[in-house]
Amino acid sequence: MTRPLPPVECWDEVDSTNRIAAEWLRAGCLHGRALRARSQTAGRGRLGRSWTAPPDSGLTLSVVLAGPEWFALAPRIPLAAGVACADLLRDRYDAPVGLKWPNDLVFGRRKCGGILCEGVTNGGRFAGVVIGIGLNINADEAALGAELARRATSLFLETGRTEADLDGLATSVRDAIVAAAEALTTAPPERLLARWAELDSIRGREVWFGEGDAATSGIAEGIAQDGGLLVRTADGLRTLHAGEVTTQPPADTR
Ligand code: BTN
Repeated sequence: MTRPLPPVECWDEVDSTNRIAAEWLRAGCLHGRALRARSQTAGRGRLGRSWTAPPDSGLTLSVVLAGPEWFALAPRIPLAAGVACADLLRDRYDAPVGLKWPNDLVFGRRKCGGILCEGVTNGGRFAGVVIGIGLNINADEAALGAELARRATSLFLETGRTEADLDGLATSVRDAIVAAAEALTTAPPERLLARWAELDSIRGREVWFGEGDAATSGIAEGIAQDGGLLVRTADGLRTLHAGEVTTQPPADTR
């Protein structure tokens, strides 16, 4: 790993740590620079969603991978970040955290975290990648609110454990993610894919995905070499490269 990495910064309130980290990247910041916010007012999620969390209920963190060399590795960076986060949470809290394609962190069927990787350009040139991580750590039912009903959970709700040192957790997550990303430049992709498969929470289960107005179902068969999700449908084996799958049938197909 590139050493030393700059200290993880902690700001009280920001709109989106990913937005600020992208600004840093365009301004030429150091590789591995990272920002945690105690509270985020306009956190960005995948598929245009938002990511909200009350102050210190969890981790809202963005990590910069600086440099054009990350472009070629971009498809595997979310996979590497997901594995790094899941393994860290498993080790640190002895908690059975898994992964759900494309990069949700889950306890069983409930989501406890998400990762949003964004490529950043500057004047038409690829400047690097911002990896945004949102983890529900100390959140109770009240903090999760409506999200709880939408199948969210937290480390606290699942294990009874809380984390007083969110800055320490942020540094550990940043270090693990940077190390995992840098390992992509040397380690064979098979190793990452094999670990992802071990953590895969939906392999062998029926899943649904949207196609236009319709929902198609099939059996999840793990991830492909390119990071897509393999789904065995009635029409054959499909590889999904975008969107998401659910493990519950959409209400209108019941
Ligand atoms: C998802 O939709 O599952 C991904 C959520 C990613 C949220 C994190 S919170 C820290 C970082 N800053 C953002 O604006 N988004 C990411």
